[in-house]
Amino acid sequence: MKPKPPHRLRPMGPEDIGAVAWIESVAMGVARRDEAWHTMLTHPAYRSRVLEETGPEAAHVVGFVTFSVAGGEGGILNMAVAPEARRRGYGRELLMAVLEGCRAERARSIYLEVRRHNRGARALYVATGFVQVGERPGYYTGPADDALVMRLDLKPYADARRPEAPAPEA
Ligand SMILES: CC(C)(COP(=O)(O)OP(=O)(O)OC[C@H]1O[C@@H](n2cnc3c(N)ncnc32)[C@H](O)[C@@H]1OP(=O)(O)O)[C@@H](O)C(=O)NCCC(=O)NCCS
Repeated sequence: MKPKPPHRLRPMGPEDIGAVAWIESVAMGVARRDEAWHTMLTHPAYRSRVLEETGPEAAHVVGFVTFSVAGGEGGILNMAVAPEARRRGYGRELLMAVLEGCRAERARSIYLEVRRHNRGARALYVATGFVQVGERPGYYTGPADDALVMRLDLKPYADARRPEAPAPEA
């Protein structure tokens, strides 16, 4: 893994839309319009995080993830890291932020769809514990590809973080 400069994860805000739309356009070949991002940022079921590098130069966003939480289920909508910042572990950190956010809201599982030919993203999801639970043939266009549906079952937050029981009094 390449070395990581100082960086931090934080919720996405309207001031991040330009940077995030640029990363999305480079990574996916398409970019949502600004209005779509504003809708994403204000919709009650949608969550989004950015990862920005800090340090001596001005902070700049190098990755983002958008996800939903509703009805006990999380869903990853989109995630991308700027090409020059890949293989530093940022994708994994963004994914961990999704797991943390979904657990905190008591989701029991997280779903996502990924292109069959997207080997990098698939490797990341499998390494995190996602398993394939379905597929949608010909789901994607430009270029045409199948979608693989993947799911991660979450341990309840309370079980993962339950504090030690106090010692019984003598
Ligand atoms: C998928 C993506 C977000 C991964 O981001 P990243 O910051 O490079 O990922 P990480 O550095 O955290 O990688 C973590 C692990 O995932 C796997 N992985 C990531 N990219 C990989 C690649 N291109 N090939 C093989 N394995 C890869 C590796 O196991 C890696 O661990 P390692 O570097 O120790 O071997 C990034 O490649 C990207 O933005 N791709 C274009 C957009 C996209 O495909 N988004 C997902 C849509 S479903």
